[in-house]
Amino acid sequence: MDSRFAFERPTLPPQVRPADADDIEGMARVSVDTWRLTYAGILPESYLARMRLAAHEAQRRRLMGVSDAAHFVAEEPLTGETVGFASAGPVRAGDDALGVTSEIYELYVQNGFQGRGLGRGLIAAARAWLSARGHRGMIIWVLADNPARAFYQRLGGVPAGQRAIRVGGALVEETAYVWRDVG
Ligand SMILES: CC(C)(COP(=O)(O)OP(=O)(O)OC[C@H]1O[C@@H](n2cnc3c(N)ncnc32)[C@H](O)[C@@H]1OP(=O)(O)O)[C@@H](O)C(=O)NCCC(=O)NCCS
Repeated sequence: MDSRFAFERPTLPPQVRPADADDIEGMARVSVDTWRLTYAGILPESYLARMRLAAHEAQRRRLMGVSDAAHFVAEEPLTGETVGFASAGPVRAGDDALGVTSEIYELYVQNGFQGRGLGRGLIAAARAWLSARGHRGMIIWVLADNPARAFYQRLGGVPAGQRAIRVGGALVEETAYVWRDVG
């Protein structure tokens, strides 16, 4: 077995695996595509239109260089195309007040591949990785107007707080979902 995946659980879909440098372009593409579709009408249109693949690739390369974070991809079984990804690691500063030690920083599944269990599989991979590192409790911040809130509730996340953040010049509300048990 791939040693980076020594914590693998049998519930993971076969197409979910740890990301590596070759996945950066695919992850950036999933990120730009899903932001534009999911956040249309939620975030400013001009901001979404200005998103550039190259900038997202550079940002992803930086994020993947952070040693205490983990990144997973879901790939299309026949073509190997990257169709989803998740990133997780220690909770960011400020959120530790909510009594959790870990965070899912990002989770995106390409339109057309949603509803096939890949989101659940990516979360399961991240949770197994966090659990193996002794984390207690996990948080994810979701835009309050994002229908994905129902997905996190379906997976047992409990609403735990609200905050306003500025994205592309607009003030938007986010909701925190918390899992007390990571494993
Ligand atoms: C939200 C997202 C990650 C979920 O991944 P997915 O692969 O579509 O979801 P899954 O197929 O794994 O669904 C798991 C369960 O959640 C439910 N679910 C998924 N999305 C849902 C939604 N929007 N509303 C209600 N339930 C939902 C599914 O019905 C399924 O339930 P079941 O296991 O009882 O049948 C994905 O749809 C996505 O990337 N959306 C666009 C981007 C986004 O919003 N990302 C989150 C940013 S915080």
